Amino acid sequence: MNKKQMIEKTKDYVKNNMNNEEPGHDWWHVYRVWKMAKRIGREEKADTFVVEMAALLHDIADWKFHGVGAGAKKTRMWLESLGVEKNDADHIVEIIESIDFKGSAETQKMRTIEGKVVYDADKLDAIGAIGVARCFTFTGYKKRAIFNPKIKPKRKMKFREYKKSESPAINHFYEKLLLLKERMYTRTGKKLAEGRNKFMQQYLEQFFKEWNGVE
Ligand code: ADP
Ligand code: NI
Repeated sequence: MNKKQMIEKTKDYVKNNMNNEEPGHDWWHVYRVWKMAKRIGREEKADTFVVEMAALLHDIADWKFHGVGAGAKKTRMWLESLGVEKNDADHIVEIIESIDFKGSAETQKMRTIEGKVVYDADKLDAIGAIGVARCFTFTGYKKRAIFNPKIKPKRKMKFREYKKSESPAINHFYEKLLLLKERMYTRTGKKLAEGRNKFMQQYLEQFFKEWNGVE
C-alpha cells in the first residue's frame, strides 16, 4: 500500500469510528483540522504523510471520553495494521501523545515541525466562531451552566484539577480559549489565531452587555 492509499484508508477508518462522539469532537472537527493542517504543513514544508496521518488520528480516542493513553494505543495498533514504517509510526504517536490541552498550568511542547503544524490546526478549531460553537456544545453535552457569576475562572490549572473541573462555558474562555493565541507555533497559526481571538473578545463583550441587561 502506498502512502496516499494509507491516508485514504485512515480517513475512512476515522470517519467510521467517530460517528458516536460529542459533536464538538466528531468527524467534522477532524475534517477541519485535517484541511488546516494540510494548508499550514505546505507553508512550513512539513512531511505531508506524518501531518495528514496525525491530524486524522489525533482525536480517535480523546482522554476526556476514553481515558488517558487510549488514543495513542489505538493509533499504534491502526498504524501497525497498515504497515506504516516504524519511524513514521513513532512520530505520529508522539504527536498524538503531546497534542492535548491538559490545563493552563501544564507546559506543552511539540518537538517537530509536523507536531507544531497539527497542534496549530487543532487549536485554531478551538477558537473563533467555531470555537464558540464547540465550547457550548461540550458544556451542553455535560449539562454545565452557560455562566455563573459566583464561579470565578481559575487562572492556573494543573492536569489533576483540570480533569475534574466542571466550569461553566464562559469560564472556559478564560481558562483555555483566550490563552491559545500565545501558544501557537507557526506563522499562519499565529496570524489566524489573532483574528479568531479578536472575534471571541467581541463575543464576550456582547455576552456581558446582554447578561447585565445593557444591550
Ligand atoms: P484539545 O484539542 O486542545 O486537547 P479538547 O479536546 O480538550 O482540546 O477541547 C476541544 C474543545 O472542546 C475545546 O476547545 C472546547 O470548545 C471544548 N471543551 C473541552 N473541554 C471543555 C471544558 N472543560 N469546558 C468547555 N468546553 C470544553
Ligand atoms: Ni482535536
